[in-house]
Amino acid sequence: MAELVALTVNGTEHAFALPRETPLIYVLRNDLALNGPKYGCGLGECGACTVLMDGVAARSCVITLATAEGRAVTTLEGLGTLEALHPVQAAFITEQAAQCGYCLNGMILTATAFLTQHPRPSEAEVRNALRYNLCRCGTHVEILRAVMRAAAAIAPPPVESAP
Ligand code: FES
Repeated sequence: MAELVALTVNGTEHAFALPRETPLIYVLRNDLALNGPKYGCGLGECGACTVLMDGVAARSCVITLATAEGRAVTTLEGLGTLEALHPVQAAFITEQAAQCGYCLNGMILTATAFLTQHPRPSEAEVRNALRYNLCRCGTHVEILRAVMRAAAAIAPPPVESAP
């Protein structure tokens, strides 16, 4: 019988009796029914499968269960709730930054991790941060607007005082 591998997903501890080399995305989707992470390329190149691992954006198609052992994984489902969306989720809705929606999981989680490290980014910095997340519909302008909106909501620019 396979040795148990323990990790925390969206704040809940789980232990899996699965082969240690199982891709994390299979565990999330098949064993926990968390369908936020999408299977795209399976090669770590498109970003559709992105999750946060200890707060850092990571591609769950190329991360094994063994690599995730003992780590805190957050999926799109764990970011906010229907009643209290995360500011990045809310901004994507406000800006209607989706066509097919397949890339959105990766866009939102990559943007969330980026904004944690860079709370007041320029548009160029956001473009750079998302350059390895692919969107085939061409919703890039709306996605950029959504991330800038989220940035302003998370860390509003300082109010300039009168001289
Ligand atoms: Fe993981 Fe494309 S499915 S990066």
